[in-house]
Amino acid sequence: MGYKAPRGTRDILPQEASRWHILEEKFKELCYIYDFAEIRTPIFEETELFVRSVGEESDVVKKEMYAFKDRGGRELALRPEGTAGVVRAYLEHGMHNITQPVKIFYYGPMFRYDRPQAGRQRQFYQMGIEVFGTKEPSADVEVIKFTAEFFFKLGFKNLKLHINSVGCPQCRPSYQEDLKEFAREKLSSLCPDCQKRALLNPLRLLDCKTESCRNLMNDSPQIDGYFCNSCREHFSEVLKLLKVLNVSYYVDPRLVRGLDYYTNTAFEFISENIGAQGSLGGGGRYDNLVESCGGPPVPGVGMAVGVERIVLAMEKEEFSLGKNEPEGVFLAIDGHDFREEGLIMLYSMREKGLRAEIDYLNRSLKGQMKFAHRSGFRYVIILGREEKLKNEVKLRDMLKGEQLELSYEEALIFLIAERGHTFFRGMSPCSEKNN
Ligand code: HAM
Repeated sequence: MGYKAPRGTRDILPQEASRWHILEEKFKELCYIYDFAEIRTPIFEETELFVRSVGEESDVVKKEMYAFKDRGGRELALRPEGTAGVVRAYLEHGMHNITQPVKIFYYGPMFRYDRPQAGRQRQFYQMGIEVFGTKEPSADVEVIKFTAEFFFKLGFKNLKLHINSVGCPQCRPSYQEDLKEFAREKLSSLCPDCQKRALLNPLRLLDCKTESCRNLMNDSPQIDGYFCNSCREHFSEVLKLLKVLNVSYYVDPRLVRGLDYYTNTAFEFISENIGAQGSLGGGGRYDNLVESCGGPPVPGVGMAVGVERIVLAMEKEEFSLGKNEPEGVFLAIDGHDFREEGLIMLYSMREKGLRAEIDYLNRSLKGQMKFAHRSGFRYVIILGREEKLKNEVKLRDMLKGEQLELSYEEALIFLIAERGHTFFRGMSPCSEKNN
């Protein structure tokens, strides 16, 4: 075999795709209910946009960006996340001049050049939402409640919501100074990355995955001792509203997130079942991001979830994204003489919206039955000489092993009715014809 998918990427195979569809549908359904409208932005943007928004000193920009020059010499990068592109589009299309808040959702592939492992890929899919134009704590809660509800609808019962406030440019600097000071005493024992972080981006010290660094930073100062009044009030209001809405949370003073644009609220939904990459989704408030991308001071809050990680966690927790229940009908033709009649039936079933298929490889009747079973068809219609003489077809329920003889028209009516009754799993309406 010559070619393989590039390291850190994955094919979503046809048998997996239906799970993804369920996830996508649930997400879009919730977006509709919560009144978020879709935006689709390019997969690449000017590199500078990500440097300015995600942060020059963040790992995402410094180490993980797929940045390149195009043939015209433009500095571009594959998007490592969705928020920056959405902010760019919000400004470019003057959405700050329309009625606020503007509520937007998006879905698509993101790219980060990181070391691949379970739950971490170089191309991965995110679904995200953003709310622009309100500083209200209820908007933070809207985003968090949406995320909690999304996971609940998928069947997750044991995710933990970690929440923190990362302060604002008024109160954060003095915390960063103290953190720097704390780290200075331990500098030689920290990993090389943290030695740099201590100088350039001390908040990131709390985010290091190295065990020894985590231990060393264990009793570092905590940000809640540094909040200005406005950050304290905002955070306590967010927590109060979460309680009112019965969203349980864990205040994690070390949660800082990997992107530098956050102010105030930061949160993650964590699964304990998929190892190190346990964050299934996260987000927070970014009140200075729009301005730092060249716009007016418009506050924002949002989140994104990682589709691959959700699918992985669902597999680990052993609940499926909807079972692949057999459905639809396979038309098995016993003998060449009925080929044309069979095709007419096939297309008439499809016209009625039924999932319908036929054999393309001249299989025997037995072979066709096997194929129908393997391909997940609930019913098989058999058309052969014996049936033709009686002007009938056989309709076989592959799940129950029951079989009826009836006219094709009756079979069609049955199949259409059956599709409308998802809970109906028997063939009793025509039971007098049961074999
Ligand atoms: P993030 O925490 O960097 O936030 O990514 C959100 C989610 O994307 C993560 O929780 C994870 O599930 C998934 N994810 C991230 N990196 C990878 C990877 N290498 N492989 C697989 N999945 C991954 C953001 O991207 C922010 N833009 C979220 C946001 C929106 N904040 C405000 N608005």
